[in-house]
Amino acid sequence: MSAAPPTATTADVVLVVDFGAQYAQLIARRVREARIYSEIVPSTMPVAEILAKKPAAIILSGGPSSVYAEQAPTLDRAIFEAGVPVFGMCYGFQLMAQTLGGTVDNTGRREYGRTTLHVSRPGSTLFAGTPDEQDVWMSHGDACSAAPEGFTVTASTDGVPVAAFENDEKKLYGVQHHPEVMHSTHGQQVLEHFLYRGAGLEPTWTTTNVVEESVAAIRAQVGSRRAICGLSGGVDSAVAAALVQKAIGSQLTCVYVDHGLMRKDETAQVEKDFVAATGVQLKVVDAEERFLTALKGVSDPEDKRKIIGREFIRVFEQAQAEIVAEAGEHGEAVDFLVQGTLYPDVVESGGGTGTANIKSHHNVGGLPEDLEFELIEPLRRLFKDEVRMVGKELGLPDEIVQRQPFPGPGLGIRIVGEVTKERLDLLREADAIAREELTAAGLDREIWQCPVVLLADVRSVGVQGDGRTYGHPIVLRPVSSEDAMTADWTRMPYDVLAKISTRITNEVADVNRVVLDVTSKPPGTIEWE
Ligand code: XMP
Repeated sequence: MSAAPPTATTADVVLVVDFGAQYAQLIARRVREARIYSEIVPSTMPVAEILAKKPAAIILSGGPSSVYAEQAPTLDRAIFEAGVPVFGMCYGFQLMAQTLGGTVDNTGRREYGRTTLHVSRPGSTLFAGTPDEQDVWMSHGDACSAAPEGFTVTASTDGVPVAAFENDEKKLYGVQHHPEVMHSTHGQQVLEHFLYRGAGLEPTWTTTNVVEESVAAIRAQVGSRRAICGLSGGVDSAVAAALVQKAIGSQLTCVYVDHGLMRKDETAQVEKDFVAATGVQLKVVDAEERFLTALKGVSDPEDKRKIIGREFIRVFEQAQAEIVAEAGEHGEAVDFLVQGTLYPDVVESGGGTGTANIKSHHNVGGLPEDLEFELIEPLRRLFKDEVRMVGKELGLPDEIVQRQPFPGPGLGIRIVGEVTKERLDLLREADAIAREELTAAGLDREIWQCPVVLLADVRSVGVQGDGRTYGHPIVLRPVSSEDAMTADWTRMPYDVLAKISTRITNEVADVNRVVLDVTSKPPGTIEWE
């Protein structure tokens, strides 16, 4: 398989060095909200390699370690001597302090949660124009008691004498708190002060640029050859397809694989909405039997993902052969496969930060080794909300752009247990009811997505009509989220839940119980598998 080349060339990149615990993703998002492109690199990357990427600025994230712990991640001090502006946050701040000769005390006293920050230098680069007293989010054990030489202390808290410092001459800045977290009331402003004032960057990274750069990169990559794109009905593949279509027009054919794991009426909707909006060439392949045969007897979630990923590719390869045959002897070969892989998919599949592989999202970790296509992944650098903005920029209608996320492996990973046609039909009914009621209650925007899960291997006793039942539970998993990296369960109105529950148990045969999942992410993931 060939790796996807970069799909955009962005002048200024701010690198976020990831010290763990998911702070880095949030920081990268916040930098992008400030209209500057940002990427995450693992803290294990050698400093020379980080600098070779020519970052316009570097941010050191927070992390769960103490700088005193034996295995604590460190950084070569060269990172502070390269003339590149650096902003350390929490762990990154302490690392900067310690490396440059300041004092970090192993107090063992934790400061956790909302804390008042006292700004002692209101005219400083980071805090200019922000209040002298402000709420910040803290999460640390050690504390800095003396700044390195040449640094000015700009803020403190009741528990920490040095809660922020800066050295304008060397362009080095640090804060003990987490400016990226919403609870830090002026966090975004402090971050932007670093980017605009400290590092002297301009907010030039816009959706229009992303589209223009991607289109140019795709044209350069594909030339006069042809590409196919798997459409799933979700936002990501739709936006990826629209972007590639803008770049290479009729050299693109979209393939919609009906794997039988779709939700009710989904296939018809793709055929109607997407084709109407883009005028793209669409080929629909009915592959239900093939997928269900391949999934027979399989219960393990990762096995399911791998099988679904593999079958997808085999179907694409078949579609490729058909498209070439239809084009006749003068047709160009189909060499490219477009995928709507997002930045969080890359990071969560272990591709971005070297963190653990949580799930092999089929379009990242589950592709077969002998893939015959080169990949085009134009959204590989984007977060979901950015993808939606790109979709809007490309003129896609709200029905597509605002759709809730739906996983590529579809209902296959929402049946806990073996996937069969009967179980899929049952889940499709329950899912359709839940979606109908959520839409009727006007909750589509508030809820990020609401997986409806069938616990096929579980039965419980119920009573319906005059008799005992022994049916399956359905789980409702409504979550609120900004980017699916973290999520909380949505506090939905009880009457809507009651309506969904009543309808599902009345209308869906073999289901006698509906339960609500009240777990955040972490520790739970959004999908059950
Ligand atoms: P988790 O369950 O990891 O999900 O919290 C995060 C987001 O990713 C979606 N998801 C997938 N998407 N292939 C996909 O294309 C997959 O295998 C897959 N697994 C999870 C999930 O719906 C949520 O939006």
